[in-house]
Amino acid sequence: MKGIIEDLNWRYATKLFDPKKKVSQSDLNELLEALRLSASSHGIQPWKFVVVTDKKLRVELRKSARGQPQVTDASHLIVLCVRTNVDEKHIKKYIQDMAKTRNVTVNSLKDYEGSMTGSIKRKDKEEILEWSIRQVYISLGMLLTACATKRIDACPMEGFDHTAFDRLLGLEKEKLTSVVLCPVGYRGNDKYAKAKKVRFPQSEIIIKR
Ligand SMILES: Cc1cc2nc3c(=O)[nH]c(=O)nc-3n(C[C@H](O)[C@H](O)[C@H](O)COP(=O)(O)O)c2cc1C
Repeated sequence: MKGIIEDLNWRYATKLFDPKKKVSQSDLNELLEALRLSASSHGIQPWKFVVVTDKKLRVELRKSARGQPQVTDASHLIVLCVRTNVDEKHIKKYIQDMAKTRNVTVNSLKDYEGSMTGSIKRKDKEEILEWSIRQVYISLGMLLTACATKRIDACPMEGFDHTAFDRLLGLEKEKLTSVVLCPVGYRGNDKYAKAKKVRFPQSEIIIKR
């Protein structure tokens, strides 16, 4: 069994990281690039990613994450955040980026901009946030897969107090709120590393029509 399936069988939600082992800067950059390249609806990228290395801060954050050791012991703690200001201004900026990158006029993208603005206008603030959060989870999937291909351990984590994290990381003033955590690093002596994967068989989850 080679390739992506081998990688995905290798990965697991790491409970115990080796605090001495660090992810190199170039590997970290690759992981961050995988986040940047994630797909999102309309390509709207309603996210930012906070990389936390400050030890004292991580001790504080751990207290607001049910004391889970991954928060302090992994090499880097990545906090996947959603923008709380996905609005017409954000869309305009994206369109300007697209025009510059693809060397076309902003005017030629008017219809595309209109369809995006229309889909935002049909939603209230709460719905926009929910929809944006769904996009952030796609980037989490990309990050987990990128980690697995590089044999870097990771643990997706929702078990934390979002309000406390937002406060400790100063996210409100950045117009962000925390969605999900992903500590990355290298497994320590973790009994879960050898646990067999528990997944429903394809016969139960794949429907053919
Ligand atoms: C969105 C999400 C949130 C999770 N939150 C936590 C968490 O707070 N703490 C933890 O130890 N594991 C957490 N997990 C890990 C899951 O328990 C784990 O992925 C699942 O049991 C499947 O096991 P595997 O990933 O090792 O194959 C989370 C997973 C996901 C996808």
